[in-house]
Order: sequence, then C-alpha cells, then structure tokens
Amino acid sequence: MVNVTSPPAQPQVGAVLRADPAAFATRTFAAAARSPREPVIVVLDERWGRPGVLFAGSAADSPDLVDVTVTAVLPALHPEWLGDRSFCEVHAVRYPYVVGEMANGITTTSMVVEAARAGFLGFFGAAGLEPERIEGAVVELARELGPETAWGSNLIHSPQQPSLEEATVAIYLRRGVRRVSASAFMKLTLPVVRYAAAGLVADSAGRVVRRHHLFAKISRPETARFFLAPAPQEMLDALVAAGSLTRGEADLARRVPLAEDITVEADSGGHTDNRPLMAIFPSIARVAADLAARHGHGRRVRLGAAGGLGTPAAIAAAYALGAAYVLTGSVNQAAVESGLGAAGRALLAEAGVADVAMAPAADMFELGAQVQVLRRGTLFAARARRLRDLYKFYAALEEIPPADRARLEQEIFLQPLAAVQEQTAHFWEARDPHQNERAARDPKHRMALCFRWYLGQSSRWAIAEDPARRADYQIWCGPAMGAFNDWVRGSFLEDPARRTVAQIGRNLLEGAIAVSRAQQLRACGVPVPAAAFDVAPRPLA
Ligand SMILES: Cc1cc2nc3c(=O)[nH]c(=O)nc-3n(C[C@H](O)[C@H](O)[C@H](O)COP(=O)(O)O)c2cc1C
Repeated sequence: MVNVTSPPAQPQVGAVLRADPAAFATRTFAAAARSPREPVIVVLDERWGRPGVLFAGSAADSPDLVDVTVTAVLPALHPEWLGDRSFCEVHAVRYPYVVGEMANGITTTSMVVEAARAGFLGFFGAAGLEPERIEGAVVELARELGPETAWGSNLIHSPQQPSLEEATVAIYLRRGVRRVSASAFMKLTLPVVRYAAAGLVADSAGRVVRRHHLFAKISRPETARFFLAPAPQEMLDALVAAGSLTRGEADLARRVPLAEDITVEADSGGHTDNRPLMAIFPSIARVAADLAARHGHGRRVRLGAAGGLGTPAAIAAAYALGAAYVLTGSVNQAAVESGLGAAGRALLAEAGVADVAMAPAADMFELGAQVQVLRRGTLFAARARRLRDLYKFYAALEEIPPADRARLEQEIFLQPLAAVQEQTAHFWEARDPHQNERAARDPKHRMALCFRWYLGQSSRWAIAEDPARRADYQIWCGPAMGAFNDWVRGSFLEDPARRTVAQIGRNLLEGAIAVSRAQQLRACGVPVPAAAFDVAPRPLA
C-alpha cells in the first residue's frame, strides 16, 4: 500500500492513496473539468463506493484522510491534440481548426491573416468575386504571410460559368496557392482535377508528394466519392492532351485520392442540405473507409466537420465523432475582421438559434437551390420566397397580375421592372452574353434573371451596409450563430466589437477541452455537475 498525502505525479491504476474529503466534493469535480490542462487522478473510496478526484501532486491537508484506490489517470488535454495530429503536421498549423471561406470576400484577407497568426487555417472567400479581385487577394496573402505559413482560398463550382472555375484555378497555380477548398461540386471538372494533380511528384521512397492540397467540402456521400477516389483516367488524359498536366503527374494522380482533406458539412449558413452532423459524419466516414480499402492507396484521408459548430460542446462533439479538424463559418461572419457591414454584424449578434430560414439561392435559383439565411431583423427571406413562388407559378413577367407587379416594384425592387431588366441585361452582356440570348428566347429565363437581380444585390447591400436597403439584407447564417450568442451572453464576447476570429476560435477550442475533460470524468464514474459542460469565454492570449 502506498500511503501518501501528496499523490505521486504518475500513480498507477490500482495503487492505494490517501485522500481528504475535498476529493469527493462536487466543486472539486467541477474544478477538475475546468482545468483540463492539469492531469487528474480518479479514485474510488471502496468503503462507500464513492468516486473522487485528486490533482496530481496536490497535498491532502485534512485529519480525515481515507484510503482510496486509483481507477484512472487522466493526462493533460490540449486543443492542439483534439483532432488528427497529421492535420497539423501536413498543413503546418498549430490547431486542427479551420476558418471557412465565406463568399464575396466576407472571409476577408485580414480574417485569413488573423486566423493564420492564431494558429488556424483560413480560406479566403473567393466565391462571387471577379478573377482580378481573387488574384489581388492571394497575392496579398502570400506577401503578408510568407511561404511558411499555411492559408488557402475557395474554388466554388460554377456550372453556369465554367470559364470562371478555369480562370480561378489558373490564378491559384500561377500564384502558388498551396491550399484550396473546393465546394458545391456536384460532379468533377477539369479545373479542380488539374489543381489537385499539378505538381505531384514521387519522393525517393516512391511515395506521392503533393504540391497542392485540395480540401473538398461535401455534404452527401455521392459527392464525397468523387473526391475520395483517384482522379478519373479520362479527365487526366484530357488534361495531358491540353498541356495542362504532364503524363508523370497524371500517372501519380491515379495512385492517390483526389483530396485528402474532406470537410463534411452539416446544417450550416449559406448553401446547405440541412443534415445533422451526427447523422452524416458517420455515413461519410464509412464511405471513406470503403473507398480507401477498394483503392488500396494507403493514404491517410482526414475528415473534417463543419456546420452548426458555435459552442465548445459542439466542437468537442465533432472531435468525438472522429473529426480530424473542425471548420466554422457563421460565427466568424460576426467577427470584426468579417467583410460584412457593421449593421449586419450587429443583427447577427442578436440572433437566436431559431432565427434562421431557408430562402432561394441567387446562383442556382432556377434549379430550386436554397441557402440558409438570417431571418430576424430582415425581410429578405420572406421577400425572396415570394419571388420564387411567382417564378414557379407564372411563365413570364407579363403574366403576373398588374397588382402583384406593382407591389414587386414598390416593395422589393423599388423601381420599375423594366429598369431592372435593363440593368440585368447590361450585367450579363459583360459577364456571360449567352444568358441574354437565352432570355430573349425564353421569357421564364428573363423572369429568373430579373428576380436574381434582387437575390444577388441583397447580399451586397449587407456587405456595403446600404442604409436604404436594411430591410433587404441577405445574410447567410446557420443556427450555430444563435448557439454562439447564447454561449457568450454575459461574457466579453457578447460585445460585437470584441469578437475577433482569434478569440472566437481560441475560446471554442479551450472550451472544447474542458467539455472533453468533463465527459472523460463522467465516463470514469465521476458525477460531474451539468455546469461543467458549460465553459464561459474569457480573453485568451
Ligand atoms: C456568410 C457565409 C458565406 C459562405 N460562403 C461560402 C462559400 O462561398 N463557399 C463555401 O464553400 N462555403 C461558404 N460558406 C460555408 C462556410 O464556409 C462553412 O462551411 C459553414 O458556414 C459552416 O457552417 P456554420 O455556418 O454552421 O458554421 C459560407 C457561410 C456563410 C455563413
């Protein structure tokens, strides 16, 4: 029997120690959960069947010492260790934590820089921007962060404008962007395959080494499959024939999955399938395991989790599901570095979990695609749904009854529909004249282009903080925002001016280790109070 009043730093399970009554107090259990960086010893008072907790090295200072048996020794927990360690090694980041891309530059270059400086990986929000602006942003990021610091940018699938995808990949390759998050892909395209395969080499041991890391954001097993398998031979051949890849790169691409970081996106802000993370993550993990076995590539594919992550408990749960990394979106849109205007950020800071709604998406309006947006404080969702209903019901703008047309002009467009159509035609003339040709032939398409004007402008009004259009702000947002607001209420992070991407991320991660510790203690039989799962934010260096 070991008879000590100060437990050894590394006691063995089964050792007998002496503990004072404080070891069995609820406040000690709560303190153990709040100090996840300190190792703790779980003990059992066998006489009464009472579990208790001792801090390694702490002295018992009571005359009422009792014999206890060590049942578990919990080592220190650190946020750096919550995910798959290979994520941090491969991407040279401190934490397995990603700041997700938000379109139209809402994930600004300064947000990506601040994320990188905090030890996270950030993706610039390139979707919806002209190639010149994307190029300017990646040049700025490369200059600000230098060659050693990891960062990335978004590649959004644009089926209606394939040239944009091609131009974006050309910029990324020309400017040496080493990490790209591909999203909204319903099928593979040549540009995304080109990005992943360009620069593949074999090392002296014959292992395939990547120059470019493609992250794939997916929310369904069928799209996950494209990225988990090697690039299709016919696409590689086409790229070789076009001079976009060497034969050597194409051959190596057949030996590895197209992407090795797959972000599984659950119910999120913006485009979403609204699936719960708890349901889709395990399904996609199964697909990943099956495909790895089938292709026998022996590579370590990492699955990240996104969607609904706005509290420490959610982050801890995502890692517990097996996520190699976590990715946040909505909560960063409310940060001071966000490209969204201050008025929009203030609205976000007031949102509750249920203050979101689905509304038609501007880019895939005719296909019926939807985006999740903020509902509270803006009429956008209701107005956009009205446009979608009219579009479904009528074959042309001219068919809409005059009273309804007048309401559209007065309440939504604030100008005659003829003027909107003129601006729309002008816009597409420069961007994609084919849309105008189609509109001339097809009055329903002409109506769609006109309605898409509102859907497209409304997110820009929120970014530019147009005071005349406050009621129409389209702010993409998921329930994570409301959960975050509930969590930070009463803390320094309640103030929108103190929400930085670094403080948000650090507090989520620090809280996640406390929640993980509380769960470890509970699994060891310690009756931790419910409050141990609720960790208040505090300024973290
Ligand atoms: C304002 C906003 C814009 C977004 N834009 C994009 C985008 O352009 N491309 C993309 O892949 N994901 C986009 N997303 C999704 C985020 O990158 C992230 O995957 C998602 O927000 C995570 O879910 P959460 O909102 O529940 O945190 C956007 C999300 C928001 C809130």
